[in-house]
Amino acid sequence: MIYLWREQRTGVTRQQPVTVDVHVRPGDARRALCEEAEAGLCGRPKELSPKWLYDERGSQLFDDITRLPEYYPTRREREILEARAAEIARVSGADTLIELGSGTSEKTRLLLDAFQEAGQLRRFVPFDVSEAFLRSAAERLARQYPRVSVHAVVGDFERHLGRLPRGGRRLVAFLGGTIGNFKPEQRAHFFREVAEGLEPGDGLLLGTDLIKCRDRLFAAYNDRAGVTAEFNRNVLRVLNRELGADFDVEAFAHLAPFDEEHSWIEMRLISLREQVVRLPALERFAHFEEGEVLRTEVSCKFRPEQVEAELAAAGLQLSSWWTDAAEDFALSLSFKR
Ligand code: SAH
Ligand code: AVI
Repeated sequence: MIYLWREQRTGVTRQQPVTVDVHVRPGDARRALCEEAEAGLCGRPKELSPKWLYDERGSQLFDDITRLPEYYPTRREREILEARAAEIARVSGADTLIELGSGTSEKTRLLLDAFQEAGQLRRFVPFDVSEAFLRSAAERLARQYPRVSVHAVVGDFERHLGRLPRGGRRLVAFLGGTIGNFKPEQRAHFFREVAEGLEPGDGLLLGTDLIKCRDRLFAAYNDRAGVTAEFNRNVLRVLNRELGADFDVEAFAHLAPFDEEHSWIEMRLISLREQVVRLPALERFAHFEEGEVLRTEVSCKFRPEQVEAELAAAGLQLSSWWTDAAEDFALSLSFKR
């Protein structure tokens, strides 16, 4: 809990204390990783959930990705928020902003500023699985927005949406295109869970990356500086640390091709040789053939009518659809019916 007093021209503003709910303890996360690693590394095809990419180093590497020249989604979404934040505050009428997969909440400041300007923001709820990163972001935000109560939630949005704080008029923001990191059936489940947790009139602000020419998609996920490759390989460092594994990080290559059939970028780690990796926490070994793929993430790209239909199927009525000037990225606002 932090108490600070801040002198302002208009008087003294007392910074509100930061509260943090923790639904994912380090021990739980490690147990979940053990379970996933058993199925995902010891069988075939090999796959892990993208959430394991985001330890502190991975979260920092993602932040570096957002500034790469090839990685357009963050810049495009910021462009939309710059143009539309005031309208979003007005139309949503929300006094509580909840952000799922909040990371640094960097772009979210545009929303926080607009909501404050409209004099309606009471509470900000950043929700993320990456605890240390979330805690420091929440404390920074509480200092910068002393009139807003910051209530951080350490949780997994595939398991803990039912634990979101209730009360007030709520807007749930899910930015950055992170919805694309779910496969279609997980996405449908996620939309249903979000809708079930909302009251009529509460809203969902959703960022979706749109289908575009495959060369630009490829470049965005295979950058020249190799930051995305480092982000991808970081999951092997997480496995080494958490499971005592002995992955040789340099023995895996990064590749993220666009799969037209599924309309997703597929982030892969490719074993550069035949190798056996020890997984002491599981008392198992993982065998990799030369060229064998470990899938670490999908990143779906959407058509506008598809987003509207998927929201509607979960009981969320599309109210506004905005894109950047190049129509690379979309933000949609929908309401619980
Ligand atoms: N919203 C930010 C960050 C996107 S990166 C932006 O638009 O730039 C994706 C974020 O989702 C990371 O902060 C990561 O820690 C979080 N995340 C990934 N999987 C998650 C899960 N299952 N539950 C909660 N947060 C998750
Ligand atoms: C967080 N998420 C939306 C990013 C994406 O574009 O799918 C994660 C990422 N993976 C590689 N680069 C960025």
